Amino acid sequence: MSEEIIIIGWKAPSNIALVKYWGKRGNQLPENGSLSITLENSTTTTFLSFQKKSEKGDTISLKYYFHKEQVLPFEKKTELLLNKLCSEMPFLVDYELVFHSENNFPHSTGIASSASSMSALALCLVSMEEIVNANQLENDEFFRRASLIARLGSGSASRSVYGGLVSWGSSDSIANSSDEYATPFLLHEGSRLNKVMDIILIVSSKEKSVSSTKGHALMSEHPYREARKMQANNNLIKITEAIRIDDYQSIAEIAENEALSLHALLMTSGSDGLLLKPNTLYILEEIKRFRETSGLDLFFTIDAGPNVHLIYYEDQREQVLEFVRQNLSQYCEDGRWIDDQFGSGPQKITSVMKN
Ligand code: PMV
Repeated sequence: MSEEIIIIGWKAPSNIALVKYWGKRGNQLPENGSLSITLENSTTTTFLSFQKKSEKGDTISLKYYFHKEQVLPFEKKTELLLNKLCSEMPFLVDYELVFHSENNFPHSTGIASSASSMSALALCLVSMEEIVNANQLENDEFFRRASLIARLGSGSASRSVYGGLVSWGSSDSIANSSDEYATPFLLHEGSRLNKVMDIILIVSSKEKSVSSTKGHALMSEHPYREARKMQANNNLIKITEAIRIDDYQSIAEIAENEALSLHALLMTSGSDGLLLKPNTLYILEEIKRFRETSGLDLFFTIDAGPNVHLIYYEDQREQVLEFVRQNLSQYCEDGRWIDDQFGSGPQKITSVMKN
């Protein structure tokens, strides 16, 4: 084996979709367009170290550590993914790969941990590709490639390689949108969305009963499949227009409609599809009541799990924090919630060479 070991690290954020990607076709292509907010504080940090094998390889060799422990299911999953990626990145079989990954929030609970973990992994792989091919990409090209590679691991991860508001899936309402990779959705400077915040109310941190892989698969035979595609595409057109004209009430209505539609689809997909918990519904009722009495523009969204994202704007922070402490934390597991906000995107941590 060659002496040289190179280590690359990326910290990548999770994201929360306002218009949900649900259902896929072909090689991880979305049935409909989606739009998400990249978060700032819920992140995965991944380090990839690689060392050239003494002879040209023909299989992937890797070890995967999660919070310093070797986790065989993650190792297996990553190996399957890297095998799939070999046609895109043939050099992968020529190296011994070691991944060290850490999440700062619970995984597999419907906070999109696959989004942050797969985007961190993809960013490491594209950085590795630059090094082994001795070909540094332009910034735009680098992130587009990372988005495409991340998408092959988890669709929602394609959006986490960018900060701010991000779309994925081709749509007439979004310039340069594509099914292959995500694109940043630019906000005008005065948009309040630049200061959007997210409190993630942890109703349960237990692993959910339906993985999103299974949920997407169930959509291919779902009786509402065609109606869902139409609904999501219309919601995407409507929300992008609402964002452009700063219509915050419509943004809230569309986002809530999307969250409830995702769960309606899950519930009508099969017997395991009920992911909402009683406390999820109490939280939604409290949010509606508080919105009516306070007149604030806050709204909820939910990913494929029981936890609720309370989306609000920075200028309402004090009132919202008080509301969360007084009315919502009682419905959270151990009173736990995550304070998050509009994020600036992934960060490269390091690129070191050891002999
Ligand atoms: O990225 P996946 O394959 O885990 O799918 C997740 C899809 C949702 O999180 C439910 C919605 C979305 O667009 O993020």
